Amino acid sequence: MTQITPQPGIMEIALYQGGQSNIEGVTDVVKLSSNENPFGTSELAKEAFARARHELHRYPPTDHASLRAAIAEVHKLDAGRIICGAGSDEVLQFVTQAYAGVGDEIIYTEHGFSMYPILAHMVGAVPVRVPERERTVDVDAILNACTDKTKIVFIANPANPTGTMIGGNEVARLATGLPKGCILVHDGAYTEYVEGFDGGAGLVESCDNVLMTRTFSKIHGLGGLRIGWGYGPKDMIDVMNRIRQPFNLSVAQLATAEAAIRDTEFVERCRSENTRLRAWLAEALAELGIPSDTSTANFILARFASEQEATDCDTFLKKEGIIVRRVGGYGLPNCLRITVGDEASCRRVVYAVKQFKGVAP
Ligand SMILES: Cc1ncc(COP(=O)(O)O)c(C=O)c1O
Repeated sequence: MTQITPQPGIMEIALYQGGQSNIEGVTDVVKLSSNENPFGTSELAKEAFARARHELHRYPPTDHASLRAAIAEVHKLDAGRIICGAGSDEVLQFVTQAYAGVGDEIIYTEHGFSMYPILAHMVGAVPVRVPERERTVDVDAILNACTDKTKIVFIANPANPTGTMIGGNEVARLATGLPKGCILVHDGAYTEYVEGFDGGAGLVESCDNVLMTRTFSKIHGLGGLRIGWGYGPKDMIDVMNRIRQPFNLSVAQLATAEAAIRDTEFVERCRSENTRLRAWLAEALAELGIPSDTSTANFILARFASEQEATDCDTFLKKEGIIVRRVGGYGLPNCLRITVGDEASCRRVVYAVKQFKGVAP
C-alpha cells in the first residue's frame, strides 16, 4: 500500500463535467450545452489577440494594471479592488483557498454551480448544500444553515443552471445577516445578460464581506481563453493576490480581455439579441407544454413532465445534431438546460422538440 496520500477532501471531488461538444457520426452539430456566446467574440478582441502574437516572448505584467484599469473604467469601479484570474473559476479558487480550510463549512444552494462543492473539498472544507425555494436561492434557508464554522457562502445570481435571480434587497439581507467573518461570494458569471444590473458591485461598496466575481467566458465570448475577475474589499483582494501566481494571465489573455471589455457595443448587441431570442425560445417551448422559470441568463431550464421525457428528448435532440445539457447532477433530472443560441439554432431546437412531441408540420 502506498504511503502517499492526498490532502483531506481531495478524493471526495467528483470531476467537473463540461458540456458535451461532439456527437459521433454527426457533422452539423449545434452546441447549446455550455452557455457560450453564439455570436462569437468581438472583432476588436480578436484583433488584439492577433496583435499579442508579437509579444509572446515577453513575460506578462504581474499586476494586470492595464486590464484592471479598463474594467474599472467601463464598470466605474476602483481598479485597486479588482483581481484577475484564469476564468472566474480561478478567482473562486483564490477566495476558497485564502479563507477556508479543513473542518470549515462552505454553503452553496441546492441547484448551485457544481464548482462550489469541488472547491470546498479542494481545501478540506465541508460543502453544505442548502435547499432552494422553487429553484431559487432561499436567503432564510442559507442564514439558518450558518454555523460558527461557515466561512464562505456561494451564490450565483443569475444562477446556473436555473437561470433564476434574487433581488438586490435579498442579497443585501443575506450579506448583512451572515455570521461575522463569513464571506458572501456573489458569482456574477451571467450579470451582463441582465439589463442595468451591477452584478453586486454596489453591495461590495457597502459591505466588507462581499466578493463579486465576473467572467469573460459568457457575453464576451472568451470561454476558450480563460479570463475572469473579482471585485471586493481592498484587504480581501490583497490577501488573494498573495496566493495568485504572478503570471497567471498570459499576454494574449490580458490584451484580448482589455479589448473585449472596451467593446461595449458588442456586449450591448449580444445582450439584446439574447433577451429577444430567450423570450422567443421560452415561449415556443411553453406552447409545447415545456415550461421554464423566467430566465435572466443566456440559457433556459426546460422542465419536462418526467425524467424519462427529458432523457428521451435529449436523445432525440442528439440524433438531430443538437447538444443541450442534462442537469440530473444538479438535482434536476426532469430538466434540460438549453443555451440561447442564434436565431437559426433556436429555431432548430424548437423544430426538433416539435418533432419529438409529434406536432411538427
Ligand atoms: C455560475 C458560474 N460561475 C462561474 C463559472 C465559471 O466561469 P469561467 O471560469 O469560465 O469564468 C461558470 C461557468 O459556467 C458559471 O456558470
